[in-house]
Amino acid sequence: MTIELAPSILSANFARLAEDAKAALEGGGTVLHVDLEGGGTVLHVDVMDGHFVPNITIGPLVVASLRKALPNAILDCHLMIENPDNYIPAFVEAGASWISVHQEACVHLHRTLQLIASHGCKPGVVLNPATPVHMVDEVLDMVHHLLIMSVNPGFGAQKFIPGALQKIKTLVEVRESLGLSFRIEIDGGVALDTVGDIVRAGAELLVAGNAVFGKGDIRENAKKLLGAARAATLTRA
Ligand code: DX5
Ligand code: ZN
Repeated sequence: MTIELAPSILSANFARLAEDAKAALEGGGTVLHVDLEGGGTVLHVDVMDGHFVPNITIGPLVVASLRKALPNAILDCHLMIENPDNYIPAFVEAGASWISVHQEACVHLHRTLQLIASHGCKPGVVLNPATPVHMVDEVLDMVHHLLIMSVNPGFGAQKFIPGALQKIKTLVEVRESLGLSFRIEIDGGVALDTVGDIVRAGAELLVAGNAVFGKGDIRENAKKLLGAARAATLTRA
């Protein structure tokens, strides 16, 4: 499995969102010189509604603008909202590539995942730190990615919760035993000091906000983080 960085724009400067996002995609792209159109790499978009999580961020309008500015980027939309079924069509229309929903927010998770897939988007499920991996056993064959939260969702720059590592390891085992191929994504507190353990546990899609956009040069931060992640694959068990 390829290790990929998914820069989270939550920590970007929203007044120059496209420029910040391009810099992160360039630095953390899967190829060295990503073209400025986005290069086909993953950009993580955190959607918050002030109900499911105690914060409000962006909606379909911003996703549509990002799609225009980055026509080739994979827009990985992480919906931290209640009643996601009501908004999925709008995010699809705006240009989302992947849409993930929280297990905790979906009474009819199976139906919601079907809805996402029926629109041609890649469906994902997200688990809060307090939710055991086995809560989603019955839908694992429907998902393109399984996102493990390693902080409580709502804000960037929080401390990594180490319990997430065991959840990644469990998922790797379950995926193997079921012969599935969904990707394992991790979100929250991914930084130079945590990424080694995260990759060794088995995560492949690394969401990082503060570590990329927080301070210093965005391009360099992304490059360094991806470099550290790839180096850790060499020491995987
Ligand atoms: C948190 C969001 C994350 C956030 C991660 O609710 O889902 O994507 O941006 O931020 P960092 O990398 O700063 O912990
Ligand atoms: Zn996120």
